[in-house]
Amino acid sequence: MSNVHVFDHPLIQHKLAVLRDRNTGTKMFRELVSEIAMLMCYEATRDLPLEEVDVETPVAVAHCRHISGKKLAVVPILRAGLGMVDGMVTMMPSVKVGHVGLYRDPETLEPVKYYFKMPPDIAERDAIIVDPMLATGGSAVAAAGFLKEAGVKHIKLMCIIGAPEGVEKVQEAHPDVDIYLAALDDHLNEHGYIVPGLGDAGDRIFGTK
Ligand code: PRP
Ligand code: URA
Repeated sequence: MSNVHVFDHPLIQHKLAVLRDRNTGTKMFRELVSEIAMLMCYEATRDLPLEEVDVETPVAVAHCRHISGKKLAVVPILRAGLGMVDGMVTMMPSVKVGHVGLYRDPETLEPVKYYFKMPPDIAERDAIIVDPMLATGGSAVAAAGFLKEAGVKHIKLMCIIGAPEGVEKVQEAHPDVDIYLAALDDHLNEHGYIVPGLGDAGDRIFGTK
């Protein structure tokens, strides 16, 4: 069964409170999504393997550790996941980025795929899927499925807000995918929106409503 990690770091929680506010405008919303992604990335990469390395300081040799060349990919689910890419890339400057284009059919709430472009060596990489919202879980389940079809063996899912329904769906479909959240909210409303949530993440990032 996949683990669910909810980050209660004060900086993440403070920024999330501002992000949820209906009066927060597009500029601030974008900045906050990026900053929260950066802080979540820091927490979600705690298990990256390290190896010993000797570094010559101006004074002597220091016995240090650096990340042991693990190959990673960040995979935003378009559109809203794009808002989290900057933060991830700031923390991991040489990470490769693959894109999955999915939108939720407003009637059925089922994900519809319209784009899939991965780094050529994606099968050798661990992937972190990013999307601000995990609602019914349809988009995340589909994205993880496409990555597995492409040969990815280790996948993490990082979302800012999750609903219990979406968490359960991902756990059922992909028990090997660990889930990282800044908040686990209460429920979904009749339109599939997370309550209390933050509204439509894509529209708030891109100013389309
Ligand atoms: C939103 C969100 C997720 C999806 C979550 O995207 O960014 O991708 O809904 O819902 P689910 O868990 O029920 O699948 P949306 O379909 O609104 O597309 P957008 O990012 O292009 O706005
Ligand atoms: N997608 C969003 O952007 N917000 C929700 O609350 C649910 C799905």
